[in-house]
Amino acid sequence: MALANTLPIPFTGGLPLMGQTLDYQRNAFDFYWRIFERHGEVSRSSLLFRPVYNLLGPDANEKVLLNQGGNFSSQPAWEQVLQALFPGGLMLRDGAEHRTHRRLMQGAFSHDSLQSYHVAMDAAADRALAHWPVGQSVPFLDLVKDLTLDVATQVFMGEAQGAVANELKQDFVDMVQASIAIVRLNLPYLPYAKGLAGRKRLVRYFAQRVPAKRASQDGDLFARLAQATDETGQDFSDEDVVNHMIFLMMAAHDTTTSTLTSVVRVLAEHPTWQSRLREETLALPAPLSFADLANMPLADQVMREALRMYAPVPTLPRFAKEAFEFKGHLIPGQSLVAISPLVSHYQRDIWSDPFQFDPERFAPHRAEDRRHRFAWIPFGGGVHKCIGMHFAENQVKLLMHHLLRRFEWQLATPAAADVNWIPICHPKDGLPVILRKTSQT
Ligand code: HEM
Repeated sequence: MALANTLPIPFTGGLPLMGQTLDYQRNAFDFYWRIFERHGEVSRSSLLFRPVYNLLGPDANEKVLLNQGGNFSSQPAWEQVLQALFPGGLMLRDGAEHRTHRRLMQGAFSHDSLQSYHVAMDAAADRALAHWPVGQSVPFLDLVKDLTLDVATQVFMGEAQGAVANELKQDFVDMVQASIAIVRLNLPYLPYAKGLAGRKRLVRYFAQRVPAKRASQDGDLFARLAQATDETGQDFSDEDVVNHMIFLMMAAHDTTTSTLTSVVRVLAEHPTWQSRLREETLALPAPLSFADLANMPLADQVMREALRMYAPVPTLPRFAKEAFEFKGHLIPGQSLVAISPLVSHYQRDIWSDPFQFDPERFAPHRAEDRRHRFAWIPFGGGVHKCIGMHFAENQVKLLMHHLLRRFEWQLATPAAADVNWIPICHPKDGLPVILRKTSQT
């Protein structure tokens, strides 16, 4: 592509070779904001020994996520992080192949499917919360990690609690640890090797059960993927089902854990909102019906605000196949580009007082997120937009309902600690809180 008078692309600096990798890992929020304030919407950094073009702000989100013309690929951008442990997932597919797999998978996320998961999710949450410790400081992140894994083994695989479920959970935790390991060598005792071994066991678990799931009447996600067919009669191979199941667990777990943790944090920091949400939830019948998830407008606003302030996925990378123009800059082909919700979620021209917790900005009479349809992007957008978005929203709201009915909570520290944004947003100290039983329990 030849363009006359293109603007230069500023380089954001950093150490030789490493560039700004350490800055990014230390605090991705500061990293993006510093370069956005200094250089604007387009800049070039060096991260993990590679040049990365930062495209920041809602227009950049729109350009990359809408992907008109198909210039931006997801697979080559995500493979460095995901390929070894989570091959074959939707984010590692592009074009026609991605469309086919996504269409096949869509049934497992239809309204009817989500409704059928609701009952299992509700029962799993009820069981798990009954044992949560009260009156003492506990890191909420650990509690919720376990809770969402319990829910996943039951809703995703239909696996009742017990030894098998515990092994699955451990294998999965090992894989996630391995996926963020800096030393990626398959040597005994290294986290990476543990993760690869965990993957092997999970592959065996799923592969052995695909035939039975194909023939079953089960309503879990695994059965739905195993039985998925499209209008042309196409279905997933056994290997596809296995790979998608493992990828879905990964895509669902830390993101939902992060969101719930952020919700609990903001509600501990804003007790008036905690009381308002408790009132809202107590006015609904328990157990909460699937239909009543739509009758929690305040919980919905708080969840959206938590996702705005603490977007779980800090960077959405893409690979630009051909050179392209953006805002007068020419970005070369065969390059890595990155967009980030951390900038568009805090821009003053979109959000009023963006550093303030203000859930009502999402109320219909304000709808600040509508000021640009790519300003609020915790779930991404375009063809790779999170397929589990409604699943996640339902799960977070259902778990909020359980938490609010059973417990009141406060921070166990004078103030909540900062968050680590990488790889998925989480509080540095695990968010110690003190739970107390409400009069409902
Ligand atoms: C609050 C929770 C969640 C957040 C914030 C979240 C965020 C995201 C984001 C930002 C993307 C797009 C990545 C990109 O464009 O590069 C994505 C994609 C995806 N998510 Fe989620 N996610 C969440 C929960 C879930 C759940 C519960 C599931 C499954 C049960 C799931 C499955 C997926 C899959 C399969 C993709 C890839 C879609 C595709 O490439 O077509 N996510 N998610």
